[in-house]
Amino acid sequence: MKTKIVVVDKNVDEEKSYTQAVDILKSGEIVAFPTETVYGLGADATNFEAVSKIFEAKGRPADNPLIVHVDSKETALRYVQEVSSKALDCMDAFWPGALTLILKAEPEIFASNVTAGLQTVGIRVPNHPVALTLLQKLQLPLAAPSANTSGKPSPTLAEHVFHDMESKIPLILDGGATEIGIESTVLDMTSEPPVILRPGKVSKEQIEAVIGTVRSSSGNTSNVPKSPGMKYMHYAPTAPLYLIENEKGLIEKAIEYVQEKGKSIAVISETEYPMADFNFPLSMDSLYASLRKCDLTDADLILASVESGMKENDALMNRLEKAADHKWFS
Ligand code: TXA
Ligand code: MG
Repeated sequence: MKTKIVVVDKNVDEEKSYTQAVDILKSGEIVAFPTETVYGLGADATNFEAVSKIFEAKGRPADNPLIVHVDSKETALRYVQEVSSKALDCMDAFWPGALTLILKAEPEIFASNVTAGLQTVGIRVPNHPVALTLLQKLQLPLAAPSANTSGKPSPTLAEHVFHDMESKIPLILDGGATEIGIESTVLDMTSEPPVILRPGKVSKEQIEAVIGTVRSSSGNTSNVPKSPGMKYMHYAPTAPLYLIENEKGLIEKAIEYVQEKGKSIAVISETEYPMADFNFPLSMDSLYASLRKCDLTDADLILASVESGMKENDALMNRLEKAADHKWFS
C-alpha cells in the first residue's frame, strides 16, 4: 500500500483532503491525523475490522484499549453512561483538550476491540483544528491511539508517522508539529476519588481545582493494571537510554567515560555539551522528536539530564523514566 501525505495546515485544496480522509475512514481504512498532543492513527470506532487494522499497523497488544475521539461534549454524552457531575465539570473545564476521561461505555456502540473487552471507554475531544474538522465531517467516533509503532516514541510530526507507518496506511494528514508533544492525561472517572492513570499536560493540580481530590496511580502495584497500556515499556529509542542528574561535572565525566571505551554518546538536555557526539533538546514538546533523532545517529548510548524541577513535572518525568526503563547512569 502506498502511503500518501497531504498537508492540511496551508491553503492547499483542504476541502478535497478532508473528503478523501472521510471516504477512506468510512470505507474501513486508517487515516493518521494531528491532535494537539501527538499524531493519532484513526479508524471508525464502530467498525471491528477497521479497528483491528490499527492494532496490526502498530503491532499493538490486543489487551491495550484505544482512546475514542469525538467532536464535542454533546457527542461524547451519546456514547457513555452514568456520567457523574465531576465528569461533566471536567468536560466543561478541559474539552476540547488534552484530557481523556474513562467512563462507562454505552453498550453496543463501540467495536469490542476498541475497549479491549472492558465496559469502560477512554474518550476525549481533541483541541486541534484538523482533528475537529475531520470529526465534524466524519460524524463517527474515531478510535485513535498514538500513530507510532508500539513501543516507539509517539509522533509529533507527520514525518514521524511516515517513518513508522509507511506502506501500512493509505493517508496521513499533515498539520505540522503538534503543540504539546506528549499524550493526554488519562483520568479514570469510574472510581471515587477519580484516578490519574497517565499523567499529561493537564496536571493533577488543574484537575483538583475543578473537582477536588484525585489520586495518582502508581501504576505498578496491581497485576491487572487499570490502564492496560501503562504496563508496556514505551517511548524507547533504540540505543540504551540512561537518566542522569543535571550536573555539568557529572555529565562531562559520564561523556568522557563512555568515549574512552570507544563508544559514541548522545545527550538530551536543556544545556549543550560540545564534547558529546550528539546533542538534542529536552522539553515536553521536544522530547519525542529528540528520542527519534537519536535513532538516526550511530550513538551507542544516550543520556537524558534530569533537572530537579522536572521531577515535579509528573508528565515529562513519567515519559523519561519509561524511555529509560528507569535506568540511571552511574
Ligand atoms: O494524547 C493522546 O491521548 C493520544 C492522541 C492521539 O489522542 N492518544 C494516545 O492513545 O495516547 P494511546 O492508545 O497511545 O494511549 C491510550 C492510553 C493507554 O495507556 C490505554 O491503556 C489507556 O489510554 N486506556 C484507553 N482506554 C482505557 C480504558 N477503558 N480503561 C483504562 N485505560 C484506558
Ligand atoms: Mg501510545
